[in-house]
Amino acid sequence: MNKNLPPASAQLASQMTKDRVEILLAKMTLAEKIGQMAQAHGSEDGVSDDQRRALELGQLGSVLNIVSIDVICELQRIALEDSRLGIPLLIGRDVIHGYKTIFPIPLGQAASWNPELIEQGARVAALEAATVGVNWTFAPMIDITRDPRWGRIAESLGEDPYLCGELGAAMVRGFQGKDLSAIGSIAACAKHFAGYGAAEGGVDYNTAIIAENELRNVYLPPFKAALDSGVASFMTAFNDLNGVPASGNEFLLKQILREEWCYQGMVVSDWESIVQLTEHGFTANDKEAAFEAANAGIDMEMVSNTYSQHLESLIIEGRISLAQVDEMVKNILRLKFRLGLFENPYPQPDKLPALVNHDHRQAAKKLALESVVLLKNSHQSLPLRLSALSSIALIGPLADDAYEQLGTWIFDGDADDSETVLQAINAFAGDSLTVSVDRALETTRSNTFIDIDRTMAAAQSSDAIVLCLGEESILSGEAHSRADISLPGAQEQLIHLLAKTAKPMILIVMAGRPLTLEPIIDHVDAILYAWHPGTMAGTALTDLLFGEVSPSGKLPITFPRMVGQVPIYYGKKNTGKPPSAESVVHMNDIAPRAAQTSLGMSAFHLDAGFTPLFPFGFGLSYTSFTYENLHLSSSTMNIDGVITVTVDVINCGEREGQEVVQLYTRDLAANVTRPVKELKQFQKVHLSAGERQQVKFLLKASALAFYDRKMNRIIEPGVFHLWTGGSSTADLNASFEIIGDKAVTVAP
Ligand code: NOJ
Repeated sequence: MNKNLPPASAQLASQMTKDRVEILLAKMTLAEKIGQMAQAHGSEDGVSDDQRRALELGQLGSVLNIVSIDVICELQRIALEDSRLGIPLLIGRDVIHGYKTIFPIPLGQAASWNPELIEQGARVAALEAATVGVNWTFAPMIDITRDPRWGRIAESLGEDPYLCGELGAAMVRGFQGKDLSAIGSIAACAKHFAGYGAAEGGVDYNTAIIAENELRNVYLPPFKAALDSGVASFMTAFNDLNGVPASGNEFLLKQILREEWCYQGMVVSDWESIVQLTEHGFTANDKEAAFEAANAGIDMEMVSNTYSQHLESLIIEGRISLAQVDEMVKNILRLKFRLGLFENPYPQPDKLPALVNHDHRQAAKKLALESVVLLKNSHQSLPLRLSALSSIALIGPLADDAYEQLGTWIFDGDADDSETVLQAINAFAGDSLTVSVDRALETTRSNTFIDIDRTMAAAQSSDAIVLCLGEESILSGEAHSRADISLPGAQEQLIHLLAKTAKPMILIVMAGRPLTLEPIIDHVDAILYAWHPGTMAGTALTDLLFGEVSPSGKLPITFPRMVGQVPIYYGKKNTGKPPSAESVVHMNDIAPRAAQTSLGMSAFHLDAGFTPLFPFGFGLSYTSFTYENLHLSSSTMNIDGVITVTVDVINCGEREGQEVVQLYTRDLAANVTRPVKELKQFQKVHLSAGERQQVKFLLKASALAFYDRKMNRIIEPGVFHLWTGGSSTADLNASFEIIGDKAVTVAP
């Protein structure tokens, strides 16, 4: 049902769609039905003979990766005019963080903690992609991941189920708009269902072993949030989950998605993930792969063609029923009707805004501004004051690289539209500042300097150093995992050398993942963690550098001190031997022949302790905020109750700024152990200098539900702690109790 319509009209619309789907299905041959279940990889050069033939026969449901408006129009024309039933095509594309106007990578967007801006970003992406006829994007990716080695962390919304769910839902709303059939709306796709982000060792495509309770409490909630926001499609995942690959996983696709969650949209496989079931060692051949995938409930097969080759015989053999196939085809047709493709199959660029127009660029700039996280700012080195500077040395391979600032998954983005840091600083400061630029290293991975004497001289003769380091786009994204997540190449060495100049040194990091910054943290004065900020990287960073805007990003992911701490995340379990500052011993401090029991006996690493370098939710600003007067409307609530939590946030600095007010809880004793902290709500507020604002949260008991040992979703009586503050280490706290005789089971 379209949630954006009032119930009566939504019901009517869905009944009409249902009738149209039934009428159309009744006319279809089995070959046409199976054809609708196929998605082919397109070619930009035009329509291939095979595609033309399949389309004429009405035996192709979708194509992906075509963005030529002419080719798309011709494909739709053949589907509509030359095939017997005239069923339009779904045109899929990975529009992940912008189409032509590139927004920050999703992990960067998540650092904004600003659902409104994220929704606007997805809206812009949809409007632009729709101009060429794309009507379906494979986003948002809402895989929870707690492993920065994994390259696709760049495409994720971070480690937290609640944040990821809220922001993923915002993306869905942005892509799909209020009305999915409106010109400029495109179908979203919740991917990858499920467990892909838990790939062992952070190696892409690797096996994921996730206990069912953890799966339900941590990995699945963002998908449920996407479903509740009306997402039109789901994509399965490449990984093996607990021994059953996700693309043949009945438990995930049938039991959870269809039966427990009552999902009525369509499910597409990932790229050749059905044929890969055999590679996994799950099926003996393509036919068995088709059986397992269809039996589990994948409606459409991306790129491989086990369905077109084997579904018919599986039906004849009685292993897959015709009724099952009908249901799958209905899911596909329903989406085509919901998208209004039968009424408006062709792109209508004249009814859509121009690509990369001023408003789109401004939307990308706003999100870039809010995605940057200020990790360090000693002696208020930032913002730079133009009046106090006459020259800066802009150093590093990412200072003036229009392409690398865009990040992974930007098939359609154009580096020519980008504004780099160098360009933007020059435009901002004009003649009032001398900017020398030196990339120092050919790429971030280079181990030798281009001309270190020249670089040092430039640094030496300037008033301040602005370093643009990190990772090029290619070092994150699909199949681009790293085992060592430090600044690659000779970048650490470069920082150590430049530190000798004793000039104020500002580090801008552009990267697709958290990097381990401990080796350099004490050698720089300030760090702006910019992820890959997209088209507007330069102007956004310049505004932040010179204090036109104060940074307001907060980490959506924990930053480890060293890679061996991974996985490290704030929502951990307490263990029976929780560490404390007092219990930690560093290995360098262990006395010779120390007794085994003298080392604290708690959960930590001898060489890294137990704390991260930067915690989840952390981020500085040019002003500072304090929290006071945490108040709960009641210290008890019923199992179906709600309490109001209020807290005063005070901007105690001398300039305006934005703060993300975060609310965490802990369930102290439960049927299954619960995390030491769980984000339950957040609000981003704007405060002028000196302003005090009361922030109010309504905390419902239902927000404290979790899956128990028997996999029932329950609300359980008991005592909870609650914290509010500006990061996951917030310490202003209170307690409350859910009152009741026993736990109650609630709907998913
Ligand atoms: C494979 C990726 O895993 C998926 O996320 C993407 O949407 C498809 N390829 C299509 O490009």
